[in-house]
Amino acid sequence: MNALNSPLTVKNCTFSPRLFLAPMAGVSHSAFRRLCADFGGYGALYTEMLSPSALLKEDLTTSPFTKRRDSEGLVVYQIKLNGDEDLVPVINRLKACNAAAIDLNLGCPAPAIRKTGAGKALFDNIEKLKPVLVTIRSLWPGLFSVKCRVGDNTDGWEERFTERVRLFENSGVDLLCVHPRFSDEKLKRYARWHLFDWIRTQTKLPLIANGDIKDAAALDLLRHCDGLMIGREAVTKPWIFKTLSDSEPSFDFKEVWLRFFNYTLEDFPKEKAIGGIKEFTIYYAKNFFYGHELFRAVQPSPDLTTLKSNALRFFERYLHI
Ligand SMILES: Cc1cc2nc3c(=O)[nH]c(=O)nc-3n(C[C@H](O)[C@H](O)[C@H](O)COP(=O)(O)O)c2cc1C
Repeated sequence: MNALNSPLTVKNCTFSPRLFLAPMAGVSHSAFRRLCADFGGYGALYTEMLSPSALLKEDLTTSPFTKRRDSEGLVVYQIKLNGDEDLVPVINRLKACNAAAIDLNLGCPAPAIRKTGAGKALFDNIEKLKPVLVTIRSLWPGLFSVKCRVGDNTDGWEERFTERVRLFENSGVDLLCVHPRFSDEKLKRYARWHLFDWIRTQTKLPLIANGDIKDAAALDLLRHCDGLMIGREAVTKPWIFKTLSDSEPSFDFKEVWLRFFNYTLEDFPKEKAIGGIKEFTIYYAKNFFYGHELFRAVQPSPDLTTLKSNALRFFERYLHI
């Protein structure tokens, strides 16, 4: 058995293989998770970051952000918090979702999220962060993970990062996922994989590596890390978990796109579905040499009927070249 397929047990969860779908706002909703589940090959799927207010008011069984199908297996529910919330009802709602684990978003550097005091802003604000971690730990008996970047690229970032890792450990966090980019880098440059070696020396927490994982070259990271998390490449290739952990599955590009289209329509109201299908297609188009044609066919489509016929025309025209 290779390192990827040896089960990773953390608290009450066993992840096998040690592969995770990254939380992605606008992408890792129920329709996309269902598509990933069709191919399998992962240990768990993360939801996108969920806001406490949405969690409290939405119907958890029908909302595409919280609903889950048995086929998905373990689903980790990610939340974004700023420390001002009443966490008792929020955690109760996550318990009602049958979450395999709860993850706290401490990495999102997007200005809209930082402005609210969540994501990277909570990572920075250690006085607010402490009670959030302790409260989640006291309310949630299951696996509790956090996901972060390495902080701001200014003097002393290593100390600041290590101080937070100590805090995670002392607050009862069970699992750490790191995307080794600095906060101001968005998704530019490259993930600093070489830092995992150092991060490993800073903590005994099980460590999940994230950032720019695209193929089997990343398996080498398992020398320092306990699992791998894939974001954008999984949107391009929802079968990537199966490919990495087992073998390349057989599939038809057009059929997979169409299946995602139909899954999205099943889970979202029509007016919301179109955005999700366009977002997915941005990544999916990267599979094709003429992918920009798919992008150009889909993005300006004003309605679902036009979008579908434009996309199908692309597949018929270009897949046979
Ligand atoms: C469209 C998009 C939405 C994202 N939303 C979230 C999110 O909700 N929570 C989070 O922790 N990270 C979010 N991320 C960051 C990813 O989880 C991941 O850390 C990042 O994309 C790097 O991994 P990758 O190179 O495998 O894509 C998002 C990334 C993308 C591209």
